[in-house]
Amino acid sequence: MTADSLDKIGNTPLVLIKSLSELSGNNIYLKCENLNPGGSIKDRAAKQMVLDGIENGTLKKEMTIIEGTAGNTGIGLAMVARELGYKMMVVMPDDQAKEKDYEILKFGAELKKVPAVPFTNPNHFFHTARRMAEEEPEKYWFANQFENLSNFKAHYDTTGPEIYNQLDGKVDVLSCAAGTGGTIAGTSCYLKKMNKQTKVYLVDPDGSGLHSYLSSTDWKSNGLTSITEGVGIMRLVPNFNQALLNSTIDGSFNISDKDLVTIANYVRANDNILLGSSSALNTCGAFKASMMNKGQNLNIVTFFCDAGERTLSKLYNKEFLETKNLHVLDSIEQITERFGVTKE
Ligand SMILES: Cc1ncc(COP(=O)(O)O)c(C=O)c1O
Repeated sequence: MTADSLDKIGNTPLVLIKSLSELSGNNIYLKCENLNPGGSIKDRAAKQMVLDGIENGTLKKEMTIIEGTAGNTGIGLAMVARELGYKMMVVMPDDQAKEKDYEILKFGAELKKVPAVPFTNPNHFFHTARRMAEEEPEKYWFANQFENLSNFKAHYDTTGPEIYNQLDGKVDVLSCAAGTGGTIAGTSCYLKKMNKQTKVYLVDPDGSGLHSYLSSTDWKSNGLTSITEGVGIMRLVPNFNQALLNSTIDGSFNISDKDLVTIANYVRANDNILLGSSSALNTCGAFKASMMNKGQNLNIVTFFCDAGERTLSKLYNKEFLETKNLHVLDSIEQITERFGVTKE
């Protein structure tokens, strides 16, 4: 890592997914957040939360940054912490891809694994991190990506303007999934400020309640689980709420794991792009938005949140997929036809 690695966060390229663009007659772009120095979109939030914590005086020298995370925010924070001379404690559920453990440890952070339990359980990773910070307030500084609006700010100040400038202001559709919602809220608020015509779609994995909440203000999961990591949630958190307060989300899609696995394999085979699981979900949502508006030469943007290397043991592992009944899939032709007729 170099001394200026914090400056290397952001300014990521936009890459056209040629195969899906040609199939649907629009331009589907990936914002390549996997190229951030910590390998994911969460580097942006990590940097902004820490810099704001230093500036507002809550994060003092000698403190340990602590965070509850599905992994990527932990990796980003570990990198930023090491760069700025802080210690880092990552609290993470034990069902995440092991690849992320190595990244966290590589940046010198301490890693505490907790059981993967529902949010209502006091041992949930978020409650565990918060409790540890509350019990030792002199020692720990809780980054709190779900509630800390520096997360939203990072995307409003950087991700949104970058996309807008990269497409010379012609951003027709933004589609993306949400974990904390910092990405969709910050980016959509900026893009809608610049152009109210930009359409924004939330893409939700199986088991998440956001899709149902947006359509009926009811937190209902479809009862399934998803192999995606870092996205989907069953409660309203302040970062996501910024999108609701500003009415920036026009619609939402539920995307099944089966479809995202097909799209991941299709893009790998045709475009040589190895998407991570949330990126495959995002791409699937962008493709659906594209098929609903077939042949209009629209610019549709979604996020390459982290690379497939971070989830090789799951998304690209035949044995694992078989355990989840994800080995018998629809063809791309079936998905294309289905996406073309269904609405959000
Ligand atoms: C791989 C990946 N994609 C997407 C997200 C969601 O981003 P956000 O928290 O900004 O909603 C996360 C969050 O941790 C993530 O790890």
